Amino acid sequence: MEIVILPDSETIGRITANAIEELIARKPGSVLGLATGSSPLSVYDELARRYREEGLSFASARAFALDEYVGLPVGHTESYREVINREFTNKVDIPAENVSCPDGTEGNIAASGEVYEKSIQAAGGVDLQILGIGSNGHIGFNEPGSSLSSRTRVKTLLAQTRQDNARFFDNLDDVPRHVVTQGLGTIMEARHIVLIACGIGKAQAVRAFAEGPVSAFCPASVLQMHPHVTVLTDEEAASSLQLSSYYRETYANKPTWQSI
Ligand code: F6R
Repeated sequence: MEIVILPDSETIGRITANAIEELIARKPGSVLGLATGSSPLSVYDELARRYREEGLSFASARAFALDEYVGLPVGHTESYREVINREFTNKVDIPAENVSCPDGTEGNIAASGEVYEKSIQAAGGVDLQILGIGSNGHIGFNEPGSSLSSRTRVKTLLAQTRQDNARFFDNLDDVPRHVVTQGLGTIMEARHIVLIACGIGKAQAVRAFAEGPVSAFCPASVLQMHPHVTVLTDEEAASSLQLSSYYRETYANKPTWQSI
């Protein structure tokens, strides 16, 4: 796991966009794994800018969202399908039919996980997965206690996660209790994983998943078992890391030909 401590979210956005641009140059039909929430916004802004100003094209790319709320009406502004479209995919030239989200509509829930797994497989798997991290260590919506080998399925959100996400809704009662989320086993099949963490509220989760034991209690810790994970943090999110000077030294001396 490579941990890179950076000054701000704009720099994180630029470095992640560089990796995505290189990937698309190498493989135009790349499969991107997209997270919602605040963490990846600087990446999406930078990719949209490169599309507008530099001709970076996503015309042959595929994208899979990590998760979706259960029970929100189709077209609800806070459904993750709408959020992903609004924050990223509508701003670039990726065809709408190339963007997939788990189906969170109530009638389709029982089959939703398996259908989603099959469509990721049919696309050849995820080449680069962007992740945020919850303050409790969740990735996707794999809350503490999630099986480390779980597949896409319905999960119940912790009260803390609903509280964290209440900022996007009129009030806490409107935040759904259930989600369909890629499992930890599903996420672990992505070829490269870039986890972004910013702000002091993520400091304990970053310390726990990167330097603590691998445990279902901190779901992101499963990433320690993945061969290619890049963690991009700002100073605040890195502030509890024990080996921060080593991570800084490693990045400062990284060969120039080597990307993240
Ligand atoms: C979003 C997701 C979540 C978020 C996490 C952090 O699709 O799966 O794991 O990445 O809750 O959210 P932010 O980035 O808003 O702090």
